[in-house]
Amino acid sequence: MSLIPSHIKSLRPYVPGRTIEEIKKEFNLDRVYKLASNENPLGPSPNAVKAMTECMSDVHRYQDVGAIELRTLIAQKYDLHIDNVAVGSGSEGIISYILRCFLQDDDELLSSAGTFIGFQVLAKSSGKKYVEVPMKKGYKFDLDAIYNAINPKTKIIYLCNPNNPTGTIFTKDEFEKFVDKVPEDVIVILDEAYFEFAQDKPEYPDSLHYRHDNVITLRTFSKVYGIAAVRIGYGFGQKDFIESIMKVKMPFEPSLPAQVGAIASLEDEAFLQKSLQINQEGHKFITDEFDKLGLNWIPSYANFVMIDFGDENKVADINESMLRDGIIIRPLKPFGLGHCLRITVGTEEENIAMLKSLKKFI
Ligand SMILES: Cc1ncc(COP(=O)(O)O)c(C=O)c1O
Repeated sequence: MSLIPSHIKSLRPYVPGRTIEEIKKEFNLDRVYKLASNENPLGPSPNAVKAMTECMSDVHRYQDVGAIELRTLIAQKYDLHIDNVAVGSGSEGIISYILRCFLQDDDELLSSAGTFIGFQVLAKSSGKKYVEVPMKKGYKFDLDAIYNAINPKTKIIYLCNPNNPTGTIFTKDEFEKFVDKVPEDVIVILDEAYFEFAQDKPEYPDSLHYRHDNVITLRTFSKVYGIAAVRIGYGFGQKDFIESIMKVKMPFEPSLPAQVGAIASLEDEAFLQKSLQINQEGHKFITDEFDKLGLNWIPSYANFVMIDFGDENKVADINESMLRDGIIIRPLKPFGLGHCLRITVGTEEENIAMLKSLKKFI
């Protein structure tokens, strides 16, 4: 008899994008560009680096367990009360707290196919039934199909907007129609990890513009704010939800460097704007080039673009060929989209190198 439950045994672990060091070693390269994990190509804000470096002499002491300064700042920025703000070790950390908090007995989880793999792994590791409905045309969430799949056991619905890895969104109209009819005893996790890249588009539904007690919004410092490796994300929700999430989380998460790094990042508006601008320019540049190459790329509201090559073997070959050139991109087989590749928008230098390598193959 095994002591390991069958749902853990059968779990396929989260496989992240390959690291720069791994690829340097494997292909004996001096220079490697990583465009695989939707990180900020500019790095962290220099102010965040300074704040994190300075806090190092204090790491022998436990930090503020309630992360009050950071949560207050986030609440002020979004015009909320601190009781509506949770923080955790990455938004993925908060997803895990939500599952720990709210799932019981034979509760089920529901989402779309072709969405964030981190959620799929956490949902499956919960040991509860996880239902996925197919996407609709254009690699978009099919909110009608998700609504129709709700049953009396459905407890948590996960939506990702913009969606990783497709870059697509559901619109204000679609979201309003959906969220107004979802039963109040079903919790909707709205993952807005790429919110900053989409927020100015009039059709994008910023979830904070709505008042629904069963919705929890998640955002992160890992993407546009550029501090993925210190692990810090945040979430918004009704007071009782946030209180419960903060009760089950590890008491001293996020770490002191994560908290001070997040505060300095939030305060560096100039860095945020520069990052968004670099992304906008890079996005236009690479998609214009994809058009010239006749590639079937999917319009994206985030800092990455998915390309549909229609063939899993071709994707594997392109990936291998680009790795040899020192370009790490993301083949999407683990996401259930084996015929597609995802490429993060980089700096001008990275984008040029990526295109040069891609063109060679095509
Ligand atoms: C949609 C989505 N949600 C969450 C995350 C994880 O973010 P964090 O680093 O805050 O855990 C990612 C990272 O790739 C993501 O794409």
